[in-house]
Amino acid sequence: MCGIVGYSGPENPKDVILSGLKSLEYRGYDSAGVAILNHGEFKRIRAEGKLSTLQKKLESETFDGHLGIGHTRWATHGAPVEKNAHPHTVRGISLVHNGIIENYLELKDALGPQTKFTSDTDSELVAHLIADEIERTHDLLKAVVNVLPRLQGAYSILVVSKDHPDEMVAFKNGPPLIVGSAQGAVLVASDVQAILPYTKKVVYLNDLEIAHVKGESFKVFDSLGRPLEKSVTTIDWTAEQAKKEGYEHFMLKEIFEQPRAVARVLAPHVDVSKHTVHVLEGTGLSERFREAERIAVIACGTSFYAGQVGAYLLEKLAKVSVTTDIASEFRYREPVIAKNTVAILISQSGETADTLAVLRQLKKVKVPVLSICNVKNSTIDREADGHLYMNSGPEVGVASTKAFTSTLALLHLLALDVAKVRSTLPLQDEERYVRALLAAPAQMETVLACDKFFGEAAATLKNFKGFLYMGRGVNYPIALEGALKLKELAYMHAEGYAAGEMKHGPLALIDGRMAVVMLAPSDELYEKTLSNLEEAKARGGVIISIGTLGNDKLRDLSTHYLALPRAEWSVNPMLEAIPLQLLAYHVAHALGHDVDQPRNLAKSVTVE
Ligand code: F6R
Repeated sequence: MCGIVGYSGPENPKDVILSGLKSLEYRGYDSAGVAILNHGEFKRIRAEGKLSTLQKKLESETFDGHLGIGHTRWATHGAPVEKNAHPHTVRGISLVHNGIIENYLELKDALGPQTKFTSDTDSELVAHLIADEIERTHDLLKAVVNVLPRLQGAYSILVVSKDHPDEMVAFKNGPPLIVGSAQGAVLVASDVQAILPYTKKVVYLNDLEIAHVKGESFKVFDSLGRPLEKSVTTIDWTAEQAKKEGYEHFMLKEIFEQPRAVARVLAPHVDVSKHTVHVLEGTGLSERFREAERIAVIACGTSFYAGQVGAYLLEKLAKVSVTTDIASEFRYREPVIAKNTVAILISQSGETADTLAVLRQLKKVKVPVLSICNVKNSTIDREADGHLYMNSGPEVGVASTKAFTSTLALLHLLALDVAKVRSTLPLQDEERYVRALLAAPAQMETVLACDKFFGEAAATLKNFKGFLYMGRGVNYPIALEGALKLKELAYMHAEGYAAGEMKHGPLALIDGRMAVVMLAPSDELYEKTLSNLEEAKARGGVIISIGTLGNDKLRDLSTHYLALPRAEWSVNPMLEAIPLQLLAYHVAHALGHDVDQPRNLAKSVTVE
């Protein structure tokens, strides 16, 4: 997940772009760069490391032009070194990119060996494609229109050309791009924060739309180059709204924050040049995990469901026996603890009374405990033997959202590293999973687009008598989490089930007033989940299915079908969580409930 800024206007582009990048640094900070017009050429300056390194490099640089682009990078393809930093420049084209071009190898092969690459990124490929098209069309906008249909993936891109020195073209499919018009200037950015100091009037680009900036104005086109009328949004935040970054509730802000929260939790543990994981190193528990005969995952509520996803990952990748327990059950059931057990305790607050009691119980019998907390120096964090952090930042909404998906990402890293110390996963598989994890934040940004669907559907959904959430394998705990979110926010009856259990009882619940939310992404259990879905459909259930792009059979069986981007089976839970959070949020809101502070609940449960 990277940050993009573009500026065309009377001020010094260097200053505007740097201040924009500063506000986008949360999106990526392993390298940064700018390309700014100077003597009719785009002068490119890039630097490895934090934005401050680029800032220093730029101190002595001057530019006489009034247009430029900038980027702060979070590496997915290629190591975080200067040659991979953006902008990428090819034959007078300079381009910045956020996201992933999925068919990059295929497109690269099609260009042939005569095309020389100077970086290891998928982004440079797009610069080559646009440079080729400019040579044919001599038109920057047309070049983008011709290249757009060839790109697959989730991406947003901003491009300039030395032959069109007063133009910028921005286009996207997935991650956000926003265009703002100020006095005699136009700004383009990944987040409204970078534009707000200059103007409150912005246009949000939809997928497959293109913004063409020329001098001090811009127009928006569809993917075929046909002009579009776009509405201008005025960002007029009060102090309270500013805290919520303009969202109506903290919960909605936190749902939308998830791509960056996940990027943040991944960053310190991933070597992006080698696509390898290092998460156990700092916990001091590597040896214990290598020798473990059993891993016990214990937590409450949402943290417990994250732990259940972690259990699937640990068993499958690290081939180790894993038990999962609800803390309030574990502490009173006089558990028989297997030899060489290592425990993972998950608690966002780090203060949950039952989880803390389990920690103390385990320590008495000398079981090493790894804690996963969001709040540093909380009691559980302090008392555990090894520590990992969700790193999600403060979560104000009582219903957990970003801490949940960050925990899923962290547990995935942990499962990969435990697999590594136990030698159960070939290196190329580790690399494949790491690539999939690095792609997740951009994919999550794409999934957030279903906010609109649930915003509209909530008026109907709120009238159902109940909701059944179903999934299989790693998706099953997400079904449980989806049901919990609806219960706690909308106060409606909702249950999560393993889809294979339908015929053992819950099928009797289904009729036309029961909504069935089916998680059926493309994975090894897809076909089996479809059969379960047919059973529900035959009983008249209204089916909302969440699957993978191109799952036509699933779409045809469903009343509503939401397509997630293609991802590894192990990353799907992070994507699926988003629509389920949005469903609960919008239904609760439509029912007039207090979404940030649902009745009877508290953020930190320090009593039994
Ligand atoms: C639900 C939610 C709760 C918590 C549970 C445990 O949205 O947040 O179910 O997960 O109360 O809290 P922690 O993780 O702080 O131990």
